[in-house]
Amino acid sequence: MRLILLGPPGAGKGTQAKLLAKRFHIPHISTGDILRDQMRASSTLGKKVAGFVKSGELVPDEIVIEVVKNRLAKADAKCGFILDGFPRTLNQAEKLTTVLKQFNIFVDLILYFGTSPSVSIERLSGRRVCKSCGRNFHLINMPPELEGICDSCGSELYLRDDDKEKTVKKRLAIYQSQTTNLINHYKATGKLREISGDSEAEKVFTQLVDMFGRESLN
Ligand code: AP5
Repeated sequence: MRLILLGPPGAGKGTQAKLLAKRFHIPHISTGDILRDQMRASSTLGKKVAGFVKSGELVPDEIVIEVVKNRLAKADAKCGFILDGFPRTLNQAEKLTTVLKQFNIFVDLILYFGTSPSVSIERLSGRRVCKSCGRNFHLINMPPELEGICDSCGSELYLRDDDKEKTVKKRLAIYQSQTTNLINHYKATGKLREISGDSEAEKVFTQLVDMFGRESLN
């Protein structure tokens, strides 16, 4: 199964991608996670992208495309993948098609998660992320067992720089400016499916699994 997850910041792409990856045993490829890992490691790439990520700007296409190309070339992506947060521009989408053609593979579905700006802001301002393993929580919707501590590894939780309200608003504006072209591009393929990201995470997941049954995906 090869999926692309699109949607505004906070729509729940990462949450659903993790659940789908576990259920279907395919890698969850999140460009945001890869870039943040590089920033944590203070690698050359991490240093190059930190300013963009922290301020909510898009990282230049050529950098992100290279990151995805390298990730898709790894052995675990041969049997399927979930792309989360990529592509974000029409140029990225076109480059992705070229890369996939080189690997002789195609995407099964593009899942577009819709949600309102107010829901995005509420979710992201309440999100807390583990400093060590990157697991996401939410102060109200998905709280950790112990306040401020990751359930998985016991490390401290923090508020992402780009989850501060002003930066979330900027991310939403950038997202809106890029979306129409991207959505129209994927609508034309007949593979775009729209999902409301507003329900509880478990309900959204059940809807997705039902949809895959109807689409004969496994
Ligand atoms: P990235 O990490 O991709 O951020 P994003 O797309 O803005 O996505 P988010 O992680 O904010 O939201 P999400 O939809 O995944 O929601 P989540 O499930 O986490 O990108 C960050 C930055 O990296 C970009 O700004 C850019 O700088 C750079 N970048 C990345 N990709 C790039 C690209 N292709 N090109 C250029 N630059 C790129 O959920 C959010 C919160 O809500 C969590 O707390 C969660 O617990 C909670 N939640 C989730 N679902 C539900 C639900 N159904 N009900 C209630 N709460 C929920």
